[in-house]
Amino acid sequence: MLLTSLASILALGMGAVSTSLAVSHKTYTNPIIPGWHSDPSCVYVSEQETFFCAASTFIAFPGLPLYASKDLVSWELASNIFNRPSQLPDLADTEGQQGGIYAPTLRYRDGTFYLIVSNLGPSIKGLVFTSTDPYDDDSWSEPLVFPVYGIDPDIFWDDDGQVYVSSADNNMIHHYSLDLSTGEIGDVSYLWNGTGGAYPEGPHLFKKDGYYYLLIAEGGTETNHAVTMARSKNRTGPWEPCPHNPVLTNKGTGEYFQTVGHSDLFQDGKGNWWASALSTRSGPNWVNYPMGLLKEINSYCM
Ligand SMILES: *[C@@H]1O[C@H](CO)[C@@H](O)[C@H](O)[C@H]1NC(C)=O
Ligand SMILES: *[C@@H]1O[C@H](CO)[C@@H](O)[C@H](O)[C@H]1NC(C)=O
Repeated sequence: MLLTSLASILALGMGAVSTSLAVSHKTYTNPIIPGWHSDPSCVYVSEQETFFCAASTFIAFPGLPLYASKDLVSWELASNIFNRPSQLPDLADTEGQQGGIYAPTLRYRDGTFYLIVSNLGPSIKGLVFTSTDPYDDDSWSEPLVFPVYGIDPDIFWDDDGQVYVSSADNNMIHHYSLDLSTGEIGDVSYLWNGTGGAYPEGPHLFKKDGYYYLLIAEGGTETNHAVTMARSKNRTGPWEPCPHNPVLTNKGTGEYFQTVGHSDLFQDGKGNWWASALSTRSGPNWVNYPMGLLKEINSYCM
């Protein structure tokens, strides 16, 4: 979640559809959302046949832009989730460009959009914003505030409806229940640490076919940035690392797009899995320059 002025959102199809868009058989160009859009988190909402992605804004206001697309190619700004000072008065006292709100997770459940994020202000707080109309700034709630562990919180509903947060603190992925009516959290357990890269962070938890899948970022948001995965029959582990880790990275390549990582996964209306990820136009020498393309990926674990 390094703040860089050039982090963009990439979309990557999982499987045989890497560059032809399964939704409508179009090709698409990465980045799908250029400019400063770090830490993308995306969902597909079948009732609206629309994809939505949110991105980090650190200390900028308005913040947490939400983009909408029918085809993953054309995107429009639907709303700013953080759009009035009352939602985050602390931001006025936040110093330093690595403060504020970054690395959100966007999810949709039973007609409601949820955006969970840490605020690194004078004190660290977890925030959950909700909305039933993603095209209306005013519909985004004042946040539920909860005692988050560190950064990059993910929100996950287990089969019994219980809500769990996974977040990164002290080089570990912390995992705990969250009561969405009171903000109370439960006991902490520690999930998979990754494959040995620095800074395991950016966790997202999924459940598919009887397995919990944990997706994380590691290596730090520079040229070693990578996405790795593990799975478990049990929400708290033990974890079985994907044999193809890292599932996504441009580490160690001469590619123009570097820092590819901090990924999220979502399924389109036809059941295809997609990954969003951030990237910077830095080249392997880790300097910024303005145009280019990303190579395809083709090894996955789901
Ligand atoms: C995960 O990392 C933490 C902090 O570095 C360490 O204390 C812990 O033992 C690690 N857990 C595993 C399973 O390697
Ligand atoms: C699953 O996790 C729970 C704690 O969350 C533990 O008590 C149980 O032994 C675990 N089961 C397996 C098969 O690891």
